Amino acid sequence: MKHLLVTGGAGFIGSNFVRFVMRHRPGLRITNLDALTYSGNLENLRDLEGEPRYRFVKGDICDRTLLDSLLKDVDAVAHLAAESHVDRSIIDSGPFFRANVIGTQTLLDACRAAGFAEGSGKRFLHVSTDEVYGSLPLERKDLLFTEVTPIQANSPYAASKAASDLCVRAAQHTFHFPACVTRCSNNFGAYQFPEKVIPLFVTNLLDGKQVPLYGDGLNVRDWLHVEDHCDALLTVLEKGRFGEVYNIGGNNERSNLELTHLILQIMGKDHSFIRPVQDRPGHDRRYAIDSSKIRRDLGWEPTRSAWPSALESTVKWYADNRAWWERVKSGEYQTYYQRQYGAR
Ligand code: NAD
Ligand code: DAU
Repeated sequence: MKHLLVTGGAGFIGSNFVRFVMRHRPGLRITNLDALTYSGNLENLRDLEGEPRYRFVKGDICDRTLLDSLLKDVDAVAHLAAESHVDRSIIDSGPFFRANVIGTQTLLDACRAAGFAEGSGKRFLHVSTDEVYGSLPLERKDLLFTEVTPIQANSPYAASKAASDLCVRAAQHTFHFPACVTRCSNNFGAYQFPEKVIPLFVTNLLDGKQVPLYGDGLNVRDWLHVEDHCDALLTVLEKGRFGEVYNIGGNNERSNLELTHLILQIMGKDHSFIRPVQDRPGHDRRYAIDSSKIRRDLGWEPTRSAWPSALESTVKWYADNRAWWERVKSGEYQTYYQRQYGAR
């Protein structure tokens, strides 16, 4: 790999992935294509400005003309761009189907036209989610999502991601498109948009506010540190078998109540800071990933996700980086592109 195109590289996982690859693959050039929607934030990659191996392009994965020009000398694509927040998809699903389905199909078509095919040496990684598998019952701890669990997406977000996975599958099956798909569990770490539960709760508490816990708080998520996810993504991009799906997870199941209590404990707050609120419609009860395939076939292991230390260091990151999340919460971060690139 000489030149990697990352889509969605200004978001939470994308910016961590760009930084991770820059650090671990010193010979590689990266182009970061991102539309800078509300969750794209160039301040996440401030430290890479001026780095000759890195280039940012503001643009949309639905823009075929732009994709054709960018893909000319690209030999690998890591596709992370998406609308990613379940609650927003419940309010308005339109942007999800546009970005996640039309965007992915447009990118696939452009890559095929640019010579992505088995035997070409080019590789495509589609970053998906465990939410495509639906929900597991709380009382059946023996059940985990495997790569052959039927797709049973329950939210508009999950449905749009499942549809994008099928677009990739169809390209692979019909055109021998050189792609792998990953499905990861919930991520946590630095630069996560404070609409997602961990940064929302931590930043609320740093401001002395309560945290809105949905329903009975017993829904379970399997938490993985974002750098372990990035490590897995690079592993699959480089070594994954075309046509395969790889589940990624941390064997780290926690109920939201348990997560909330731990955050309160780390931050020295009592339970009066919990505000029970109405449940999310259609709220998936439990996600739990069986990641034995990627561990066995590609040798990946999570090394940064152990609790409580990984959660403590994440809480500390938000405490130490108040300016970052205050600018996100106030909307000021959206002026950054204009200031940085407006005159260029
Ligand atoms: P995010 O919302 O923080 O970032 C998404 C990025 O995509 C943003 O920078 C946004 O500007 C960009 N984007 C959106 N639409 C675009 C378009 N049409 N063209 C170009 N760029 C566009 O999301 P995230 O949490 O970093 O998730 C990244 C990917 O990982 C998504 O595909 C998501 O489904 C998947 N994923 C996320 C998690 C998680 O826990 N956050 C877990 C598993 C998989
Ligand atoms: O499983 C992977 C998925 O994880 C990714 O595909 C999604 O992009 C990502 O957003 C995440 O989805 P969730 O819906 O699980 O994440 P969220 O942070 O929104 O919610 C986590 C849990 O916390 C969920 O059970 C709902 C609950 N919650 C969330 C919010 C925002 C609350 O109780 N209160 C809240 O205010």
